[in-house]
Amino acid sequence: MQIINCYAYEIFDSRGLPTIECCIQLANGHKVYASVPSGASVGSAEALELRDDNTNRLLGKGVLQAVNYINNTIAPKLLYQEINALAMDSMLMDLDHHPQKITIGANTILAVSMALFKAQAAAENLELYQILQRVSGTAQAKMPTPMFNVINGGAHANNNLHVQEYMIVPQADDLDAHKNYAQQLHAGVVFYQTLKQQLHDSGQSTNVGDEGGFAPNFVNDAAPLQLLTDIAQQLPQYSYKFALDVAASELFNEKTQSYDLLQEKNLSAQQLTDIYEDWCQKFDIISIEDGMSQTDIMGWKTLTAQIGNAVQLVGDDIFVTSPMKIRKGVLQKTANAVLIKPNQIGTVSQTLAAIDACKNNNLKIVISHRSGETNDTFIADLAVGTACHYIKAGAPARGERIAKYNRLLVLNDMLYA
Ligand code: PGA
Ligand code: ZN
Repeated sequence: MQIINCYAYEIFDSRGLPTIECCIQLANGHKVYASVPSGASVGSAEALELRDDNTNRLLGKGVLQAVNYINNTIAPKLLYQEINALAMDSMLMDLDHHPQKITIGANTILAVSMALFKAQAAAENLELYQILQRVSGTAQAKMPTPMFNVINGGAHANNNLHVQEYMIVPQADDLDAHKNYAQQLHAGVVFYQTLKQQLHDSGQSTNVGDEGGFAPNFVNDAAPLQLLTDIAQQLPQYSYKFALDVAASELFNEKTQSYDLLQEKNLSAQQLTDIYEDWCQKFDIISIEDGMSQTDIMGWKTLTAQIGNAVQLVGDDIFVTSPMKIRKGVLQKTANAVLIKPNQIGTVSQTLAAIDACKNNNLKIVISHRSGETNDTFIADLAVGTACHYIKAGAPARGERIAKYNRLLVLNDMLYA
C-alpha cells in the first residue's frame, strides 16, 4: 500500500515542552501518528535532540526546524512509495551517518521511523507488536515485567533525594500467563495508592515528580527503600521487589572522581559499591540502573565484579542504546543488563539492533520511556514484540505513563485471552 501523505508538526510533551508528532497517511485513507519523548538526565553520548535555539520562541525549545526537515526533505522521499518500513528506515539512517545524528537530530528521524512501522502494521492489518516481532525475528512475543517508579528524585523532582528513581517490581505467580500482567499492574496500582495515603497521613507531600512518582524529602537516599519495604509488608496479597535508577552520571564530580549522595559525600566508586551492597542486603533490590557514571568505566567494573552476580546492573547512559557500546560493555564487564530508549539512537531499526546485541550476549533488557513523554505507546509494543524482560514507564498514574501500561493490558489480552 502506498503512502499518500507524510507530515509533522509541533506538539507538547508531559513537561509542557515542544516535541514532534509525525503523521503518515496510507492510500486507503488510514492515518497513523507517532510522537517522540525527551529526557532530562541525558547521557552525553546520546543522539542529539534538534531544537530551534530561537530564544524568542518557546524558550528556544521549539522544534520547527525538525518539522520543516520532515515536511520538506523526508516526506518527498516517501510520498507515493509502497510502504516498506525497514527499507525506508535505512533511508532515514542514510540521511545522517553521524552516530549522534548531529545534523538532523534523533527526534526528527525517530518521529518518522516510528510512524513508518505503525503504517506498516496498518497496511498489513496487523498490530504494531506483530510487525516488530517479525522484523526483530522474535520467535514468541511475550509480556514484559513492569517496573513502576513510585518515588522520584534527582533531576526528576525538586526534593532532596539524589537517587533518581525508586521502582517497585511486582512479582507474578506464574500460574497463568494471562493473569500475570494484570496482577502485576493491580499490585502496582494498590501499592501506589497505599503509599500516597501513608505519605498523606504522615503529613508529607504527595506532589509528584516528572515520572508520576511521589517526591517528598527524606533523611537520606536509603530511607525511601525502608518506606517501600514497609508498604510492601502491608500488602501481603502481593509480592514486591525493588529497583533503583541512581542516574549516577548526575552525581559524579569529574574533577574529584567522586560521588555525592544526599548524606554521604565524596564517595569513591568502591565506597559507593559498598553502600549499594549494604542496601541490597537490607532491602529486596533486584536491579540497579546507572549505579556509576557514564565516564567512570573503572567504577562500573568494580561495581559489576562485586555485586553483578547477585543484582541486575542496568546500563543506561553508558550504553545509550548503541549496539557498539553494548558489545564493548560485554568485553569490559561493565553492567549485565541494558536500558533501551529509542530516542537515544534515533531509529527503530537501530533500536532493534541494540536489542539484538543484548540478546546475543545474554544481557537482560529493560525497555524505557523518557521523563518527558507523550501519549504514544510505541514502547509497549516494542517490549512485547521483541519479548524483552522488563519495561519501565513511570508510576501507574498520570496520562502519559498509564497510556503505556493500558496498552500492555490490551496486548496481554491479544496474546493470551
Ligand atoms: P530521562 O530519565 O528520561 O530524564 O533521561 C530516564 C532514565 O534516566 O532512565
Ligand atoms: Zn536511567
